[in-house]
Amino acid sequence: MREFPEGFLWGVATSAYQVEGAVQEDERGPSIWDSFSRTPGKTFHGDTGDIACDQYHRLDDDLDLLAELGIPAYRFSVAWPRVMPSGRGAINQTGLDYYQRLVDGLLRRGITPMLTLYHWDLPQALQNEGGWTRRDTAQAFAEYAAAVYRALGDRVPFWMTLNEPWCSAFVGHFQGRHAPGWRDEAAALTATHYLLLGHGLAVKALRDLGGKGQLGIVLNLASQIAASDDPADRAAAQRVDGNENRLFLDPLFRGCYPEDMVEYYHPVSDFSFVHDEDLTLISAPLDMLGINYYEQHIVHADPRNPERGALIDVPPGPRTAGGTSINPSALTELLLRVKHEYTSLPLFVTENGMALHDYIDPEGQSDDVERIAYLDAHFRAASVAIEQGVDLRGYFVWSFLDNFEWALGYSQRFGIVYVDYRTQARVPKQSAYWYGRFIHQNGQV
Ligand code: FCB
Repeated sequence: MREFPEGFLWGVATSAYQVEGAVQEDERGPSIWDSFSRTPGKTFHGDTGDIACDQYHRLDDDLDLLAELGIPAYRFSVAWPRVMPSGRGAINQTGLDYYQRLVDGLLRRGITPMLTLYHWDLPQALQNEGGWTRRDTAQAFAEYAAAVYRALGDRVPFWMTLNEPWCSAFVGHFQGRHAPGWRDEAAALTATHYLLLGHGLAVKALRDLGGKGQLGIVLNLASQIAASDDPADRAAAQRVDGNENRLFLDPLFRGCYPEDMVEYYHPVSDFSFVHDEDLTLISAPLDMLGINYYEQHIVHADPRNPERGALIDVPPGPRTAGGTSINPSALTELLLRVKHEYTSLPLFVTENGMALHDYIDPEGQSDDVERIAYLDAHFRAASVAIEQGVDLRGYFVWSFLDNFEWALGYSQRFGIVYVDYRTQARVPKQSAYWYGRFIHQNGQV
Protein backbone atom coordinates (compact mmCIF):
# COMPACT_ATOMS: atom_id res chain seq x y z
CA MET A 1 0.00 0.00 0.00
CA ARG A 2 1.30 3.46 -0.85
CA GLU A 3 0.51 6.46 1.24
CA PHE A 4 0.52 9.95 -0.19
CA PRO A 5 0.07 13.02 1.97
CA GLU A 6 -3.26 14.82 2.16
CA GLY A 7 -3.50 17.36 -0.66
CA PHE A 8 -0.82 15.66 -2.78
CA LEU A 9 -1.18 17.15 -6.26
CA TRP A 10 -1.61 14.61 -9.05
CA GLY A 11 -1.54 15.90 -12.58
CA VAL A 12 -0.52 15.55 -16.19
CA ALA A 13 1.80 17.76 -18.22
CA THR A 14 2.19 19.15 -21.74
CA SER A 15 4.00 22.07 -23.35
CA ALA A 16 2.81 24.70 -25.80
CA TYR A 17 4.75 23.83 -28.94
CA GLN A 18 4.14 20.12 -28.47
CA VAL A 19 0.34 20.33 -28.35
CA GLU A 20 -1.07 23.68 -29.48
CA GLY A 21 -0.56 23.82 -33.26
CA ALA A 22 -2.04 27.01 -34.78
CA VAL A 23 1.46 28.41 -35.12
CA GLN A 24 0.46 31.18 -37.48
CA GLU A 25 -2.77 32.16 -35.89
CA ASP A 26 -3.83 35.26 -34.00
CA GLU A 27 -0.55 37.08 -34.53
CA ARG A 28 1.65 34.44 -32.89
CA GLY A 29 5.26 35.16 -33.86
CA PRO A 30 7.64 32.46 -35.06
CA SER A 31 9.76 30.58 -32.54
CA ILE A 32 13.08 28.78 -32.85
CA TRP A 33 11.19 25.49 -32.98
CA ASP A 34 9.22 26.64 -36.04
CA SER A 35 12.47 27.45 -37.81
CA PHE A 36 14.31 24.35 -36.61
CA SER A 37 11.57 21.84 -37.38
CA ARG A 38 11.17 23.28 -40.87
CA THR A 39 14.86 22.90 -41.60
CA PRO A 40 15.31 19.71 -43.63
CA GLY A 41 16.88 16.86 -41.69
CA LYS A 42 16.35 18.26 -38.22
CA THR A 43 13.30 16.29 -37.12
CA PHE A 44 12.10 12.75 -37.72
CA HIS A 45 10.21 12.63 -41.04
CA GLY A 46 10.44 16.42 -41.15
CA ASP A 47 7.62 16.60 -38.59
CA THR A 48 6.71 20.02 -37.22
CA GLY A 49 4.41 21.38 -34.50
CA ASP A 50 2.33 23.28 -37.09
CA ILE A 51 -0.78 21.29 -36.16
CA ALA A 52 0.42 19.02 -33.33
CA CYS A 53 -2.64 18.11 -31.20
CA ASP A 54 -4.47 21.25 -32.31
CA GLN A 55 -5.18 22.04 -28.67
CA TYR A 56 -5.43 25.72 -29.57
CA HIS A 57 -8.72 24.95 -31.31
CA ARG A 58 -9.84 22.07 -29.11
CA LEU A 59 -9.21 23.60 -25.73
CA ASP A 60 -12.64 23.08 -24.21
CA ASP A 61 -12.83 19.46 -25.32
CA ASP A 62 -9.40 18.75 -23.88
CA LEU A 63 -10.27 20.40 -20.59
CA ASP A 64 -13.50 18.40 -20.46
CA LEU A 65 -11.48 15.26 -21.00
CA LEU A 66 -9.15 16.12 -18.12
CA ALA A 67 -12.18 16.57 -15.89
CA GLU A 68 -13.82 13.34 -17.09
CA LEU A 69 -10.66 11.40 -16.34
CA GLY A 70 -10.54 12.91 -12.85
CA ILE A 71 -7.15 14.64 -13.23
CA PRO A 72 -6.74 17.26 -10.48
CA ALA A 73 -3.89 19.36 -11.97
CA TYR A 74 -2.59 20.39 -15.40
CA ARG A 75 0.93 21.57 -16.09
CA PHE A 76 1.10 23.51 -19.36
CA SER A 77 3.42 26.14 -20.82
CA VAL A 78 2.80 29.57 -22.24
CA ALA A 79 4.25 30.21 -25.69
CA TRP A 80 6.35 33.36 -25.41
CA PRO A 81 5.87 34.13 -29.15
CA ARG A 82 2.08 34.08 -28.73
CA VAL A 83 2.25 36.66 -25.95
CA MET A 84 5.13 38.77 -27.32
CA PRO A 85 5.53 37.94 -31.00
CA SER A 86 8.85 39.79 -31.31
CA GLY A 87 10.14 38.60 -27.95
CA ARG A 88 9.89 41.95 -26.24
CA GLY A 89 7.80 45.09 -26.30
CA ALA A 90 4.25 44.92 -27.53
CA ILE A 91 1.93 42.36 -25.99
CA ASN A 92 -0.36 40.39 -28.27
CA GLN A 93 -3.61 40.46 -26.34
CA THR A 94 -5.22 37.67 -28.37
CA GLY A 95 -2.35 35.38 -27.47
CA LEU A 96 -2.63 36.23 -23.81
CA ASP A 97 -6.41 35.72 -23.98
CA TYR A 98 -5.88 32.12 -25.02
CA TYR A 99 -4.08 31.43 -21.73
CA GLN A 100 -6.77 33.31 -19.81
CA ARG A 101 -9.29 30.92 -21.33
CA LEU A 102 -7.08 27.97 -20.50
CA VAL A 103 -6.62 28.99 -16.87
CA ASP A 104 -10.24 29.98 -16.35
CA GLY A 105 -11.38 26.77 -18.02
CA LEU A 106 -9.23 24.72 -15.66
CA LEU A 107 -10.40 26.58 -12.58
CA ARG A 108 -14.04 26.26 -13.60
CA ARG A 109 -13.56 22.51 -13.74
CA GLY A 110 -11.80 22.43 -10.39
CA ILE A 111 -8.40 21.63 -11.96
CA THR A 112 -5.27 23.30 -10.54
CA PRO A 113 -3.05 25.03 -13.11
CA MET A 114 0.74 24.82 -13.00
CA LEU A 115 2.25 27.22 -15.53
CA THR A 116 5.67 26.97 -17.16
CA LEU A 117 6.87 30.25 -18.66
CA TYR A 118 9.51 28.80 -20.97
CA HIS A 119 9.37 25.34 -22.48
CA TRP A 120 11.91 25.89 -25.29
CA ASP A 121 10.00 28.06 -27.78
CA LEU A 122 12.14 31.21 -27.87
CA PRO A 123 10.81 33.92 -30.20
CA GLN A 124 12.82 33.75 -33.42
CA ALA A 125 13.28 37.53 -33.31
CA LEU A 126 15.42 37.12 -30.18
CA GLN A 127 17.32 34.23 -31.73
CA ASN A 128 18.20 36.52 -34.62
CA GLU A 129 20.07 38.67 -32.09
CA GLY A 130 21.89 35.66 -30.60
CA GLY A 131 19.16 34.13 -28.43
CA TRP A 132 20.27 32.68 -25.12
CA THR A 133 23.90 33.53 -25.82
CA ARG A 134 22.98 37.19 -25.27
CA ARG A 135 22.51 38.78 -21.89
CA ASP A 136 19.63 40.89 -23.23
CA THR A 137 17.56 37.75 -23.69
CA ALA A 138 17.53 37.17 -19.93
CA GLN A 139 16.12 40.65 -19.45
CA ALA A 140 13.54 40.13 -22.20
CA PHE A 141 12.45 36.90 -20.51
CA ALA A 142 11.84 38.72 -17.24
CA GLU A 143 9.72 41.33 -19.05
CA TYR A 144 7.68 38.64 -20.76
CA ALA A 145 7.31 36.73 -17.46
CA ALA A 146 6.00 39.86 -15.76
CA ALA A 147 3.46 40.43 -18.55
CA VAL A 148 2.07 36.91 -18.10
CA TYR A 149 2.07 37.27 -14.31
CA ARG A 150 0.17 40.56 -14.50
CA ALA A 151 -2.54 38.76 -16.45
CA LEU A 152 -2.67 35.47 -14.54
CA GLY A 153 -0.84 35.96 -11.25
CA ASP A 154 -4.05 36.13 -9.27
CA ARG A 155 -5.30 32.76 -10.52
CA VAL A 156 -2.35 30.45 -11.08
CA PRO A 157 -0.90 29.05 -7.85
CA PHE A 158 2.24 27.42 -9.30
CA TRP A 159 4.74 29.18 -11.59
CA MET A 160 7.76 27.53 -13.14
CA THR A 161 10.24 29.79 -14.93
CA LEU A 162 12.24 27.45 -17.18
CA ASN A 163 11.77 23.84 -18.20
CA GLU A 164 15.00 21.83 -18.30
CA PRO A 165 17.57 24.56 -18.94
CA TRP A 166 20.21 21.84 -19.50
CA CYS A 167 18.34 20.79 -22.65
CA SER A 168 17.96 24.36 -23.89
CA ALA A 169 21.65 25.02 -23.33
CA PHE A 170 23.38 21.76 -24.22
CA VAL A 171 21.00 19.85 -26.49
CA GLY A 172 20.25 23.13 -28.27
CA HIS A 173 23.73 24.73 -28.44
CA PHE A 174 26.24 21.89 -28.18
CA GLN A 175 24.63 18.67 -29.40
CA GLY A 176 22.64 20.55 -32.01
CA ARG A 177 19.75 18.10 -31.76
CA HIS A 178 17.29 20.76 -30.62
CA ALA A 179 16.64 24.35 -31.66
CA PRO A 180 18.59 26.48 -32.36
CA GLY A 181 20.76 23.58 -33.53
CA TRP A 182 24.20 24.96 -32.66
CA ARG A 183 27.30 22.86 -32.01
CA ASP A 184 29.41 25.17 -29.91
CA GLU A 185 30.36 24.23 -26.37
CA ALA A 186 31.30 27.76 -25.31
CA ALA A 187 27.89 28.96 -26.52
CA ALA A 188 26.19 26.22 -24.48
CA LEU A 189 27.92 27.47 -21.33
CA THR A 190 27.04 31.07 -22.06
CA ALA A 191 23.45 30.00 -22.68
CA THR A 192 23.44 28.10 -19.38
CA HIS A 193 24.30 31.28 -17.53
CA TYR A 194 21.86 33.53 -19.36
CA LEU A 195 19.06 31.00 -18.97
CA LEU A 196 19.72 30.90 -15.23
CA LEU A 197 20.02 34.68 -15.13
CA GLY A 198 16.69 34.90 -16.98
CA HIS A 199 15.22 32.69 -14.27
CA GLY A 200 16.68 34.93 -11.54
CA LEU A 201 15.48 38.14 -13.17
CA ALA A 202 12.03 36.66 -13.74
CA VAL A 203 11.76 35.57 -10.10
CA LYS A 204 12.69 39.09 -9.02
CA ALA A 205 10.18 40.66 -11.41
CA LEU A 206 7.38 38.37 -10.22
CA ARG A 207 8.22 38.89 -6.56
CA ASP A 208 8.19 42.66 -7.14
CA LEU A 209 4.66 42.35 -8.51
CA GLY A 210 3.49 40.72 -5.28
CA GLY A 211 0.75 38.12 -5.37
CA LYS A 212 0.42 34.62 -4.08
CA GLY A 213 1.96 32.56 -6.88
CA GLN A 214 4.55 30.04 -5.76
CA LEU A 215 7.69 30.25 -7.85
CA GLY A 216 10.08 27.54 -8.96
CA ILE A 217 12.12 26.11 -11.81
CA VAL A 218 12.05 22.68 -13.48
CA LEU A 219 15.30 20.74 -13.84
CA ASN A 220 15.86 17.44 -15.59
CA LEU A 221 18.04 15.49 -13.23
CA ALA A 222 19.47 12.06 -13.83
CA SER A 223 21.59 9.81 -11.69
CA GLN A 224 24.99 9.15 -13.24
CA ILE A 225 26.52 5.82 -12.23
CA ALA A 226 30.16 5.00 -13.05
CA ALA A 227 30.37 1.88 -15.22
CA SER A 228 33.08 0.46 -12.94
CA ASP A 229 35.32 1.32 -10.03
CA ASP A 230 38.06 2.29 -12.44
CA PRO A 231 39.08 5.85 -11.50
CA ALA A 232 38.65 6.93 -15.13
CA ASP A 233 35.01 5.80 -15.17
CA ARG A 234 34.38 7.43 -11.83
CA ALA A 235 35.87 10.71 -13.00
CA ALA A 236 33.76 10.57 -16.16
CA ALA A 237 30.58 9.99 -14.10
CA GLN A 238 31.57 12.94 -11.94
CA ARG A 239 31.95 15.17 -15.03
CA VAL A 240 28.59 14.13 -16.45
CA ASP A 241 26.96 14.71 -13.08
CA GLY A 242 28.69 18.08 -12.95
CA ASN A 243 27.39 19.05 -16.35
CA GLU A 244 23.83 17.75 -16.19
CA ASN A 245 22.98 18.17 -12.51
CA ARG A 246 25.37 20.34 -10.51
CA LEU A 247 25.90 23.04 -13.18
CA PHE A 248 22.28 23.98 -12.47
CA LEU A 249 21.69 22.91 -8.86
CA ASP A 250 24.80 24.66 -7.49
CA PRO A 251 24.12 28.16 -8.80
CA LEU A 252 20.45 27.90 -7.85
CA PHE A 253 20.95 26.57 -4.33
CA ARG A 254 24.53 27.47 -3.42
CA GLY A 255 25.06 30.65 -5.40
CA CYS A 256 28.14 29.41 -7.28
CA TYR A 257 29.18 27.28 -10.24
CA PRO A 258 30.80 23.96 -9.27
CA GLU A 259 34.57 24.38 -9.09
CA ASP A 260 35.33 21.17 -10.97
CA MET A 261 33.14 22.35 -13.86
CA VAL A 262 34.73 25.80 -14.01
CA GLU A 263 38.09 24.07 -14.18
CA TYR A 264 36.97 21.47 -16.71
CA TYR A 265 35.54 24.10 -19.05
CA HIS A 266 38.48 26.47 -18.70
CA PRO A 267 39.84 25.65 -22.19
CA VAL A 268 36.56 26.79 -23.80
CA SER A 269 35.25 29.42 -21.41
CA ASP A 270 36.54 31.65 -18.64
CA PHE A 271 33.00 32.23 -17.29
CA SER A 272 33.52 35.98 -17.76
CA PHE A 273 29.82 36.19 -18.61
CA VAL A 274 29.18 36.01 -14.85
CA HIS A 275 28.81 39.56 -13.53
CA ASP A 276 28.62 40.74 -9.93
CA GLU A 277 25.16 40.14 -8.52
CA ASP A 278 24.19 37.53 -11.15
CA LEU A 279 24.58 34.63 -8.75
CA THR A 280 22.71 36.48 -6.03
CA LEU A 281 19.78 36.83 -8.41
CA ILE A 282 20.04 33.23 -9.59
CA SER A 283 20.11 31.85 -6.04
CA ALA A 284 17.26 33.98 -4.67
CA PRO A 285 14.92 31.84 -2.57
CA LEU A 286 12.24 29.86 -4.37
CA ASP A 287 9.03 28.27 -3.12
CA MET A 288 9.43 24.88 -4.80
CA LEU A 289 11.56 22.87 -7.19
CA GLY A 290 10.28 20.80 -10.10
CA ILE A 291 12.17 17.68 -11.14
CA ASN A 292 11.70 15.88 -14.43
CA TYR A 293 12.83 12.31 -14.03
CA TYR A 294 13.23 9.91 -16.91
CA GLU A 295 16.33 7.82 -16.55
CA GLN A 296 19.53 6.65 -15.01
CA HIS A 297 22.84 6.74 -16.91
CA ILE A 298 25.79 4.43 -16.80
CA VAL A 299 28.93 6.40 -17.59
CA HIS A 300 32.08 5.00 -19.19
CA ALA A 301 35.26 7.00 -19.66
CA ASP A 302 35.78 7.68 -23.36
CA PRO A 303 38.62 10.20 -23.75
CA ARG A 304 37.92 10.90 -27.43
CA ASN A 305 34.26 11.68 -26.86
CA PRO A 306 33.74 15.45 -27.12
CA GLU A 307 30.94 15.20 -24.56
CA ARG A 308 33.00 15.42 -21.40
CA GLY A 309 35.14 12.46 -22.38
CA ALA A 310 32.32 10.16 -21.46
CA LEU A 311 30.12 7.60 -23.10
CA ILE A 312 26.63 7.50 -21.68
CA ASP A 313 24.87 4.18 -21.65
CA VAL A 314 21.73 2.79 -20.07
CA PRO A 315 21.76 0.04 -17.47
CA PRO A 316 20.84 -3.45 -18.63
CA GLY A 317 17.21 -4.44 -18.24
CA PRO A 318 13.88 -3.18 -19.53
CA ARG A 319 13.68 -0.12 -21.75
CA THR A 320 11.00 2.18 -23.08
CA ALA A 321 10.21 2.41 -26.79
CA GLY A 322 12.48 5.46 -26.78
CA GLY A 323 15.40 3.36 -25.55
CA THR A 324 15.61 4.90 -22.08
CA SER A 325 16.07 2.61 -19.12
CA ILE A 326 13.32 1.88 -16.63
CA ASN A 327 14.73 2.52 -13.20
CA PRO A 328 12.25 3.60 -10.53
CA SER A 329 14.56 3.22 -7.53
CA ALA A 330 16.85 5.85 -9.06
CA LEU A 331 13.97 8.30 -8.62
CA THR A 332 13.91 7.62 -4.87
CA GLU A 333 17.68 8.18 -4.71
CA LEU A 334 17.48 11.37 -6.74
CA LEU A 335 14.80 12.90 -4.54
CA LEU A 336 16.81 12.01 -1.44
CA ARG A 337 19.96 13.48 -2.93
CA VAL A 338 18.27 16.78 -3.74
CA LYS A 339 16.94 16.96 -0.19
CA HIS A 340 20.22 16.05 1.48
CA GLU A 341 22.61 17.97 -0.72
CA TYR A 342 20.62 20.96 -1.93
CA THR A 343 17.30 22.02 -0.53
CA SER A 344 14.48 21.26 1.82
CA LEU A 345 12.04 23.13 -0.46
CA PRO A 346 8.82 21.36 -1.44
CA LEU A 347 9.54 19.22 -4.49
CA PHE A 348 7.31 18.24 -7.39
CA VAL A 349 7.95 15.55 -9.95
CA THR A 350 6.93 17.78 -12.85
CA GLU A 351 7.44 15.11 -15.51
CA ASN A 352 7.77 11.35 -15.61
CA GLY A 353 6.45 8.94 -18.18
CA MET A 354 7.36 6.55 -20.95
CA ALA A 355 7.16 6.19 -24.71
CA LEU A 356 5.47 3.08 -26.07
CA HIS A 357 4.41 1.87 -29.49
CA ASP A 358 0.77 2.47 -28.63
CA TYR A 359 -2.00 1.67 -31.08
CA ILE A 360 -5.76 1.29 -31.07
CA ASP A 361 -6.61 -2.39 -31.13
CA PRO A 362 -9.57 -4.01 -32.96
CA GLU A 363 -11.72 -3.51 -29.85
CA GLY A 364 -11.06 0.21 -30.06
CA GLN A 365 -8.78 0.35 -27.03
CA SER A 366 -5.19 1.13 -26.28
CA ASP A 367 -4.02 -1.41 -23.72
CA ASP A 368 -0.84 0.17 -22.43
CA VAL A 369 -0.23 -2.24 -19.58
CA GLU A 370 3.51 -1.48 -19.65
CA ARG A 371 2.80 2.19 -18.97
CA ILE A 372 0.55 1.31 -16.04
CA ALA A 373 3.32 -0.86 -14.57
CA TYR A 374 5.86 1.91 -15.19
CA LEU A 375 3.78 4.59 -13.51
CA ASP A 376 2.83 2.33 -10.62
CA ALA A 377 6.49 1.52 -9.95
CA HIS A 378 7.56 5.16 -10.13
CA PHE A 379 4.73 6.33 -7.86
CA ARG A 380 5.83 3.66 -5.41
CA ALA A 381 9.42 4.93 -5.64
CA ALA A 382 8.16 8.44 -4.91
CA SER A 383 6.24 7.22 -1.88
CA VAL A 384 9.41 5.59 -0.55
CA ALA A 385 11.15 8.97 -0.78
CA ILE A 386 8.25 10.58 1.09
CA GLU A 387 8.52 7.94 3.81
CA GLN A 388 12.20 8.82 4.09
CA GLY A 389 11.43 12.47 4.69
CA VAL A 390 11.34 14.08 1.24
CA ASP A 391 8.77 16.88 1.08
CA LEU A 392 7.26 15.79 -2.23
CA ARG A 393 4.04 17.68 -2.93
CA GLY A 394 2.90 16.47 -6.32
CA TYR A 395 3.49 14.35 -9.39
CA PHE A 396 2.79 15.14 -13.04
CA VAL A 397 2.71 12.40 -15.65
CA TRP A 398 4.25 13.19 -19.02
CA SER A 399 2.03 13.41 -20.91
CA PHE A 400 -1.68 14.12 -21.05
CA LEU A 401 -1.71 13.56 -24.82
CA ASP A 402 0.56 11.93 -27.38
CA ASN A 403 2.33 14.90 -28.90
CA PHE A 404 5.19 16.35 -30.93
CA GLU A 405 8.28 14.85 -29.31
CA TRP A 406 10.77 17.48 -30.53
CA ALA A 407 13.43 16.04 -32.86
CA LEU A 408 11.66 12.68 -32.76
CA GLY A 409 8.49 14.18 -34.19
CA TYR A 410 5.35 12.09 -33.84
CA SER A 411 7.29 8.82 -33.62
CA GLN A 412 7.15 8.67 -29.82
CA ARG A 413 3.88 8.30 -27.96
CA PHE A 414 4.07 9.43 -24.34
CA GLY A 415 0.39 10.20 -23.72
CA ILE A 416 -2.05 8.55 -21.39
CA VAL A 417 -4.49 9.64 -24.08
CA TYR A 418 -3.94 8.39 -27.63
CA VAL A 419 -4.15 10.98 -30.39
CA ASP A 420 -5.09 9.99 -33.92
CA TYR A 421 -3.22 12.80 -35.64
CA ARG A 422 -5.22 12.45 -38.85
CA THR A 423 -8.57 13.10 -37.23
CA GLN A 424 -7.37 14.56 -33.90
CA ALA A 425 -9.60 12.03 -32.11
CA ARG A 426 -8.57 11.49 -28.49
CA VAL A 427 -8.83 7.93 -27.14
CA PRO A 428 -7.95 7.50 -23.46
CA LYS A 429 -5.53 4.61 -23.04
CA GLN A 430 -6.03 2.12 -20.22
CA SER A 431 -3.39 4.03 -18.25
CA ALA A 432 -5.63 7.12 -18.25
CA TYR A 433 -8.49 5.21 -16.64
CA TRP A 434 -6.09 3.49 -14.25
CA TYR A 435 -4.54 6.84 -13.26
CA GLY A 436 -7.97 8.34 -12.63
CA ARG A 437 -8.85 5.45 -10.30
CA PHE A 438 -5.46 5.62 -8.62
CA ILE A 439 -5.88 9.31 -7.88
CA HIS A 440 -9.43 8.84 -6.68
CA GLN A 441 -8.27 6.24 -4.18
CA ASN A 442 -5.14 8.24 -3.31
CA GLY A 443 -2.74 5.57 -4.39
CA GLN A 444 -4.61 2.51 -3.30
CA VAL A 445 -5.55 0.56 -6.40
C1 FCB B 1 11.36 16.20 -21.52
C2 FCB B 1 10.68 17.44 -22.03
C3 FCB B 1 9.27 17.19 -22.52
C4 FCB B 1 9.15 15.89 -23.25
C5 FCB B 1 9.72 14.76 -22.44
C6 FCB B 1 9.56 13.39 -23.05
O1 FCB B 1 12.74 16.34 -21.63
O2 FCB B 1 10.63 18.42 -21.02
O3 FCB B 1 8.89 18.30 -23.30
O4 FCB B 1 9.74 15.99 -24.48
O5 FCB B 1 11.07 15.01 -22.18
